[in-house]
Amino acid sequence: MTDVLTPVLTDNWDADRSWTLASYESRGGYGALKTALGKTPDDIITAVKDSGLRGRGGAGFPTGMKWSFIPQDNPNPKYLVVNADESEPGTCKDIPLMMASPHTLVEGVIISSYAIRANKAFIYVRGEVLHVIRRLQRAVQEAYLAGHLGQNIHGSGYDLDLVVHAGAGAYICGEETALLDSLEGRRGQPRLRPPFPAVAGLYASPTVINNVESIASVPSIIGNGAQWFSSMGTEKSKGFGIFSLSGHVAKPGQYEAPLGITLRKLIELAGGMRNGHQLKFWTPGGSSTPLLTAEHLDVPLDFEGVGEAGSMLGTRALQLFDETTCVVRAVLRWTEFYKHESCGKCTPCREGTWWLTQTLARLEKGQGSAEDLDLLLDQCDNILGRSFCALGDGATSPITSSIQYFREEYLAHLEQGGCPFDPAASAVFAREGANA
Ligand SMILES: Cc1cc2nc3c(=O)[nH]c(=O)nc-3n(C[C@H](O)[C@H](O)[C@H](O)COP(=O)(O)O)c2cc1C
Ligand code: SF4
Repeated sequence: MTDVLTPVLTDNWDADRSWTLASYESRGGYGALKTALGKTPDDIITAVKDSGLRGRGGAGFPTGMKWSFIPQDNPNPKYLVVNADESEPGTCKDIPLMMASPHTLVEGVIISSYAIRANKAFIYVRGEVLHVIRRLQRAVQEAYLAGHLGQNIHGSGYDLDLVVHAGAGAYICGEETALLDSLEGRRGQPRLRPPFPAVAGLYASPTVINNVESIASVPSIIGNGAQWFSSMGTEKSKGFGIFSLSGHVAKPGQYEAPLGITLRKLIELAGGMRNGHQLKFWTPGGSSTPLLTAEHLDVPLDFEGVGEAGSMLGTRALQLFDETTCVVRAVLRWTEFYKHESCGKCTPCREGTWWLTQTLARLEKGQGSAEDLDLLLDQCDNILGRSFCALGDGATSPITSSIQYFREEYLAHLEQGGCPFDPAASAVFAREGANA
């Protein structure tokens, strides 16, 4: 466990015009690229493996191991694709990173592409964030002009082209195989696996897909060494990560800390909950990770600790809600999002998310009966593990976890014939909370 912040990826965010090449290079930027080009691609893969870096996009798959799956004897071109789609409710780390320091990502892309022997890389960025797209495009242009990209990079004989591709604004296009379909110009829907992208990904060629933060961590690993990285974090969750605190906290924002820090410590660093209020529930890693409560303030925020507490570390999108929030309302809003974003490819998710919103909306209005809670759980049971991709599974997480911790609050809606948090309804309930 740790109680300190470790600004590495966020270190230059307050520098003057931090997004420019000049600012980035004045702080040692692109030094790791020069180090990397002096090593063999396999040395880089070994360093990333030894660092213990695990994917920062949610699932925590070891990054170096993913890279080593690329079959180098495959005659097709190899590709690196950066997943910058960031669309999960609450998740807000990659967009600020790309805004504040796009060169950290660009340098990471060059080193990572060199490691997997790719000569073409893509950054697939969420289409709505035009300001980020422009900033990335400018950073890529600056990198070309400085000779960090293009032919024979710094006389190494290594060539790399980097394309910034804007998506069209669909959450499902963050799912890595849907992203590949979208990048190829098709409607973004998940692909059947196997084959996995490492074997047959973009244009049926070997492809590595990594999250922005995973790739942006690579320069610091190459620059400071695998051991430096693995000296931070916990036994199985090495290094640092950006924890995004949002909601009812005094100072919401990005807090970069070693994995294993607790929410209690992060809230303290963020100036506490907003004045006079207490934490009621929170998501550890975005809306698709099961809710936790104030009981879980001391859970180590690493892959294992959050898993043992019954949730997932996900993207470290810590959305904090105090006692003034109606959990049923919050869960309904998330569920409406999943219904809207379901790509429609498989029945459990396409139909199931629709049914979930119907049942939840009824409960939220105080209509229906206590049996609707069992109906909701049954609907979740028919989606979880039966959907084609993890979007369907994720849609069930807020529902099942909120019923687990706040069943009484659901029932209070029925008893009062409406939302107890509605100002017109019981003020006492709103003040004391359903579970008090
Ligand atoms: C519906 C859905 C949306 C996703 N959105 C993102 C995203 O926006 N960014 C991301 O990096 N991973 C996202 N993922 C996870 C990716 O499929 C993939 O696991 C990840 O990009 C791998 O990168 P990593 O190994 O560096 O974590 C999403 C997964 C699902 C099921
Ligand atoms: S689970 Fe939902 S998003 Fe995923 S393939 Fe099925 S319908 Fe599409």
